[in-house]
Amino acid sequence: MLRIRLAVVATLALVAAAPCVAAENVAAESVAASAAADKTAEAQAGTHAVASPDGVLRVEFSLVDGAPRYSASRMGAEIIGPSRMGFKLVDAPAMDAGFVVESVQRNSADTTWTQPWGEVRQVRDHHNELRIALRQKDHRARRLVVVFRVFNDGLAFRYEFPKQPNLGEFNIADELTEFAFASEAQCWWVPAFDQNRYEYVYNQTPLSEAGKVQTPFTLQTADGLCLSVHEAALTDYSSMALTRGEGTKYGAELYPWSDGTKVRAATPFVSPWRTVQAADRPGDLLASTMILNLNEPCQLEDTSWIKPGKYVGVWWEMHVGRSTWGSGEKHGATTENTKRFIDFAAKYGFDGVLVEGWNVGWDGNWMENGEKFSFTQPYPDFDLEGLAAYAAERGVTLVGHHETAGAIAHYEAQLDDAMRLYNRLGVKAVKTGYVEFADGIDRIDADGTRHGEWHHGQFMVRHYRRVAQKAAENRVMVIAHEPIKDTGIRRTLPNFISREGARGQEYNAWSGDGRNPPSHTTVLPFTRMLSGPIDFTPGVFDLKLNSGDRPNDQVSTTLAKQLALYVVLYSPMQMAVDFPEVYEQKLDALQFIRDVAVDWEESRVLDGQIGDYIVVARRQRGGGDWFLGAITDEHGRVLPTLLGFLDRGRRYKAEIYRDANDAHWDTNPEAYVVEEQTVDANTVLTLRLAPGGGQAIRFTPLPPE
Ligand code: NOJ
Repeated sequence: MLRIRLAVVATLALVAAAPCVAAENVAAESVAASAAADKTAEAQAGTHAVASPDGVLRVEFSLVDGAPRYSASRMGAEIIGPSRMGFKLVDAPAMDAGFVVESVQRNSADTTWTQPWGEVRQVRDHHNELRIALRQKDHRARRLVVVFRVFNDGLAFRYEFPKQPNLGEFNIADELTEFAFASEAQCWWVPAFDQNRYEYVYNQTPLSEAGKVQTPFTLQTADGLCLSVHEAALTDYSSMALTRGEGTKYGAELYPWSDGTKVRAATPFVSPWRTVQAADRPGDLLASTMILNLNEPCQLEDTSWIKPGKYVGVWWEMHVGRSTWGSGEKHGATTENTKRFIDFAAKYGFDGVLVEGWNVGWDGNWMENGEKFSFTQPYPDFDLEGLAAYAAERGVTLVGHHETAGAIAHYEAQLDDAMRLYNRLGVKAVKTGYVEFADGIDRIDADGTRHGEWHHGQFMVRHYRRVAQKAAENRVMVIAHEPIKDTGIRRTLPNFISREGARGQEYNAWSGDGRNPPSHTTVLPFTRMLSGPIDFTPGVFDLKLNSGDRPNDQVSTTLAKQLALYVVLYSPMQMAVDFPEVYEQKLDALQFIRDVAVDWEESRVLDGQIGDYIVVARRQRGGGDWFLGAITDEHGRVLPTLLGFLDRGRRYKAEIYRDANDAHWDTNPEAYVVEEQTVDANTVLTLRLAPGGGQAIRFTPLPPE
């Protein structure tokens, strides 16, 4: 059973769902949770405002003829104009008008909590809150509470439906939340309600020209202000896409169930938080911890078994066509092949070996035949028990794999047994997969009727959470592919350690001219990565894919850029995808992947422009080493970079992995140089990045002279 901490920390009673804060070592420095009593005078006044602790951001709420509206400003300038709030319900009057304010409450909090793993160890939750209780004036007197929280790095709001006589079970037909952006901007987006989940190359268009977009949705105005719209704590609701209305006004559009209903609910009920992060520099968006702060504290009593790590695996070879998931002559997941990877992992210090295609069910068109998968029965040429033991003897563990092809009922029926099996075999992480398109996820009613659902609808939001909880009961971490987007749930369930949710490395193996362009990974940090860790799977050294069966494919980066991705694209579980024999030809470059940390004390974006380049530095958790990753798009760049993040007065050895002077993502991708230099906090390093290139550096403190 998932054991949930119940110790309530009294001083935090006003911070949402305080029960588990002890697990996060909350330092209640100044918990100013000062719930001001309802102020009748304020409740009756027209406008209610709340500002961020630093006073930079401000949100205003008002009722316009009984209809709720909010707007937001930053340093006095409007960023979101008056925007609608509320709901249309199925077979019931809407909750978008006819309201009066019943009460207004103000709270604030300033706490710091510790992540079990993350981009930063300590997270400060510093915000002001405004709660406005509304009541509809008609005979039903239905109540809705709108809660705003304003942080220095962004604003958020959600809806609470209290328990009440005239609203019990109800279905949401539409959420009417709007984001009326105050000015034109450039925006970066992937389409919503399309075939391929979140797996697209990002579009860049004016705000007034995008259509239906997924979140995180990032924009930058002409004067440089960066905003990103997303959501937090998506626990039992449909995910929110945005649809453009007139000009630069966008509205929430929820993914529907197959019957058209958007959300099935019963009071008391809360929506996820709608979030808008704001920063003057694109890189500062990445420093925002608001999404995590809006999630419930950790629900797991013991998180000591959750360990970040690096893995290799029987995986890239299927994508480049060297072997198959299915059984037969080319079967990749054989005992012998897996031993080869385990030996390699043990020799070079990797923690895990992923093996896909180990279980019965892959033969034929597996995408169409999800109901053939067994999650406990290995193919006869894969000695599961023997390999788990072989790995354990060498200090390595197998990384499990559950591809469902969207056959959810079939998977859920085996979930208990499958997770228990992994627990017994010491498998610490499972990669899950949901290869299915658009609304093709299979839901089966009790009477056997089949329905097609979206990956992003409430049905699947519940499923992903159920899997994470079942995995936690069995001390298994989850890396989900074709996932629901991250909305900070990793705070509550830290075993949900990473996920794909983007066009990953695999597209470079089989999509020919449709492969990821060099700019792709310079957009991801400012968009997809704002939601959380990404299992992008870097580490290709054979960039022209000479060892595979894909003459028209290649990876459009230099080798040094592949190394830099380990620092730039954050994931506590990082894969090194290439083959042992490829790595063994370039052991000097492999050294960086062996050394690079996956868990961080702190992270800083030193420089960057969305879609052009980014320079990131991170300090290893529990150690003094710093790592730097710099990547560029198709343009070569020279970036003078001050190493001011290093400890003052200390000298460091810099191990530099850079593009050779004649490197180029297309014509000369594997030309790299490994060199050393002694540096300190006053050093300005000139990072020279080839077209489509990058640079990776490890800084190790030197003993005092
Ligand atoms: C898609 C995943 O993204 C990929 O990593 C995996 O190999 C295949 N599905 C098969 O499960």
